[in-house]
Amino acid sequence: MLPAGEPLLEVKDLRVVLPLMEGNLVAADGVNFTIQQGRTLGLVGESGCGKTMTAQSILKISPKIARTTGEILLHYPDKPSTDIVGLGKEDRELLSIRGGECAMIFQEPMTSFSPVHTIGNQLIEAVLLHRTRDKHQAREIAIGMLAKVGIPAPAETLRKYPHHLSGGMRQRAMIAMALASQPRLLIADEPTTALDVTVQAQVLRLMRDLQRDLGMAILYISHDLGVIARMADDVAVMYMGSIVEQAPVRDLFRAPKHPYTRGLMASVPRIGKRSGEPLQSIGGNVPIPINKPRACGFFPRCPVAISGICDRAVPPLVDVATGHKSACFKYPEVLAAAGLAQEAAHVH
Ligand SMILES: Nc1ncnc2c1ncn2[C@@H]1O[C@H](COP(=O)(O)OP(=O)(O)OP(=O)(O)O)[C@@H](O)[C@H]1O
Ligand SMILES: [Mg+2]
Repeated sequence: MLPAGEPLLEVKDLRVVLPLMEGNLVAADGVNFTIQQGRTLGLVGESGCGKTMTAQSILKISPKIARTTGEILLHYPDKPSTDIVGLGKEDRELLSIRGGECAMIFQEPMTSFSPVHTIGNQLIEAVLLHRTRDKHQAREIAIGMLAKVGIPAPAETLRKYPHHLSGGMRQRAMIAMALASQPRLLIADEPTTALDVTVQAQVLRLMRDLQRDLGMAILYISHDLGVIARMADDVAVMYMGSIVEQAPVRDLFRAPKHPYTRGLMASVPRIGKRSGEPLQSIGGNVPIPINKPRACGFFPRCPVAISGICDRAVPPLVDVATGHKSACFKYPEVLAAAGLAQEAAHVH
């Protein structure tokens, strides 16, 4: 295992383009981030901003028409790194990454389970594939895993079909299934969105506990800032296929440095907000990223946009404070990185 805090997965300049009849849909537009061993990166943003497409490219399960470029480097403690983007669909290495090194859980647990086989058959099969060849031992491991994810009467649960379990229990069983291979990276795409808040809180706590015990890294995807605040060590905020802000979780919530992040935060109801104070929402809708103009994607909705700058150039994501990145031209560092410091002086 890599030492805690070492880069486990590095995504560099990832572009995922879907050539559609209407034009090129850019689902990921030069995405960069690093996930460290033992830590959780939260990926947050409104529906359609490209979170799932980014996650899918890590496992190479994007839609067939997708064209993916850039690098996704998976690092090992004892051998050279692999660039997942460069692997062929039939590559053996890809098969060992998918469902082995990297496991994924989804919003809908039925995506992970077949409805016609018992939980036991599916879980034991996963254990046999990754951990042991001994059937008796595999059954014991499966029972141990169901117990670990907090399922009461695990031996009995092995005999049940997925539809026999409640939503929360099915979610737990899916987590057990994902952990069967002892992955180094768990990708969780909105895994608790369909659950009620009490069950959601239990499942979130379970994932944090398992992470502490197993030392794995997590990419946690959600549109819910409250969930991200609880789960993530570091946060990347995505808008129209680009990361617009990135920081350790505390810095992001204490001092957000992108107007989009501020808009997201203002639209979350808070206890203690004075009654009668209206809930803010970000004006306008997320544009569909087809034939994107060369401009800041947030420009049409931004309350602080600088016309002549923000509608003419794409802001790069750079440090605007220690360890805190923003892609907003309001910051001189961003203007300087784009070579626009001079122009900005004329605009003001
Ligand atoms: N199979 C597909 N064919 C065409 N367009 C797609 C396909 N899958 C996703 N898209 C488009 O790609 C963009 C990114 O979608 P993605 O599913 O990654 O968003 P998301 O951030 O995961 O949203 P949500 O919060 O709703 O899950 C969207 O504009 C979406 O409409
Ligand atoms: Mg999604």
